[in-house]
Amino acid sequence: MTLAPFANEPTLELRRASVRAGLDEAMARVDATLPLRVPVMIGEDERFDGQLVSTDPGEPERVVADSAQGSASDVDAAVALARGGSLQWASRTAEERAQALVRAAAWMRERRLELAALEVRECAKPWPEADADVCEAIDFLEYYARGAIELAASPELVQVPGERNELRYVPRGVAAVVAPWNFPIAIPCGMTAGALATGNTVVLKPAEQSPGCALRIVQALRAGGVPPEAISLLPGEGDVGAALVRHRDVQTIAFTGSQPVGLEIIRAAAEVVPGQRYLKQVVAELGGKNCVIVDADADLDEAVPGIVSSAFIYAGQKCSAAARVLVHEAIADQLIDRVAGAVSVLDVGQADQLATEVPPVIERAAKERVDRYAQIARRDGRIAARAEPVPNRGWFCPPTVAVDLPAGSPVLEEEIFGPLLAIERVRDVEHACDIVDGLPFALTGGLFARDPSTVRYVRGRTPVGNLYINRGITGAMVGRQPFGGNRLSGNGTKAGGPDYLRHFVEPRALTENTMRHGLEV
Ligand SMILES: NC(=O)c1ccc[n+]([C@@H]2O[C@H](COP(=O)([O-])OP(=O)(O)OC[C@H]3O[C@@H](n4cnc5c(N)ncnc54)[C@H](O)[C@@H]3O)[C@@H](O)[C@H]2O)c1
Repeated sequence: MTLAPFANEPTLELRRASVRAGLDEAMARVDATLPLRVPVMIGEDERFDGQLVSTDPGEPERVVADSAQGSASDVDAAVALARGGSLQWASRTAEERAQALVRAAAWMRERRLELAALEVRECAKPWPEADADVCEAIDFLEYYARGAIELAASPELVQVPGERNELRYVPRGVAAVVAPWNFPIAIPCGMTAGALATGNTVVLKPAEQSPGCALRIVQALRAGGVPPEAISLLPGEGDVGAALVRHRDVQTIAFTGSQPVGLEIIRAAAEVVPGQRYLKQVVAELGGKNCVIVDADADLDEAVPGIVSSAFIYAGQKCSAAARVLVHEAIADQLIDRVAGAVSVLDVGQADQLATEVPPVIERAAKERVDRYAQIARRDGRIAARAEPVPNRGWFCPPTVAVDLPAGSPVLEEEIFGPLLAIERVRDVEHACDIVDGLPFALTGGLFARDPSTVRYVRGRTPVGNLYINRGITGAMVGRQPFGGNRLSGNGTKAGGPDYLRHFVEPRALTENTMRHGLEV
């Protein structure tokens, strides 16, 4: 099979009236199917019991999905099935597995408007972000399909007369995929696609906030030809994820989510339980506290929109979102004025409105958390902007800019994951880099500066996994910006990058003495 070279799926041209009309029609079709019924899916078996409910964050009365909830015995059954099915799926060639993923991508492409509409409802992703998320899911399927074929072609080793050497990458076995809600199709789909492409079987535990989106991923993969025993769906809360990652027969854990949960999973994975025969491999992509440095010579016409969109689009609920701006004191007042002005006119509204820039946050607990940090910011510093009023139905938080916070404030040090941006004055870029270097997080970062020597200096000092220079710091594209953090933000794996698939395989070197036996060709 020859696949065309990878290219990113183009996002929709949302300015066109015909495209907008298509979105409205797709939303009407999706609304007519709500609430979705999401089963526990273990192979061919499906169980509905409607114990877990996901609701629209903008209209909490609207139930988006009525989902079954996985149990401890479901975890055992799903892992046993995945283990039993692993030899069969692994025995397919990389090309055959790639074909299934490419067909799954085609399934999603055909339904991309409905998939985006479901994200708008279930996670309050505004249309442009929801569309981009579906495109990213398609990209992961297409990119890992090609990557797995490349990985299967063993790398060249040194060969000497009388000896044949080979390095093969073989699937590790059963992969547990535990996913967050904020990229409700792209992230679970990406982790699952990486595991499947390399011949592992998967048990997917999606976030409790987005079981409906997860159902669509499993449907796409099965429609593409991934056998039921190779992909099971276990909706549920954290306890289901905890039981899954602790299971003796899970060899790989692909986790994206918060730092505390990630650390707990890494600890659990390090415990070898009776009967366990593998060291568990953990792919951990965790939270951040992302800083944007603005030097005195920065182009503020570029910096202000870059900062505002990075901090507030999707209500600051991207792991890559800007949380702190470290601005040179010479231009701090000017930057604060301009960012405050831009934030005070942000359009806060429902995700299904095309004008909306800041939708509600995901759930009540998230709203309470963001409000709590806003109160601390008001108490310890000064609020430079707050876009109020916001709609009173749904989990809306006013976009807020805080300044003059004391060093060590929780607002500066903890991941808030909402529309609250802190701006701080620094003496110079070196001072800003010292602050960034002092943080335990190292996910994304940004720099606005014109002097090439400043750019070189920051490039050399940054610890972050993804540094963006003179642009916004969100929106990593598969194949273009391999994504993932360092330090306590992750163990350095790069989703959508050329070495991601290596985490799902184990290498085996084979050496054959051919001196007296000839070489079989
Ligand atoms: N680095 C990245 O690429 C990246 C991408 C997206 C989100 N994130 C991070 O994810 C977080 C937001 O997502 P969230 O609120 O869904 O995160 P979360 O950590 O609360 O939940 C993530 C998943 O883990 C499960 N879980 C909860 N407790 C568990 C346990 N004890 N054992 C196993 N699984 C458990 C949840 O049910 C969910 O499926 C933020 O911190 C954000 O920065 C990181």
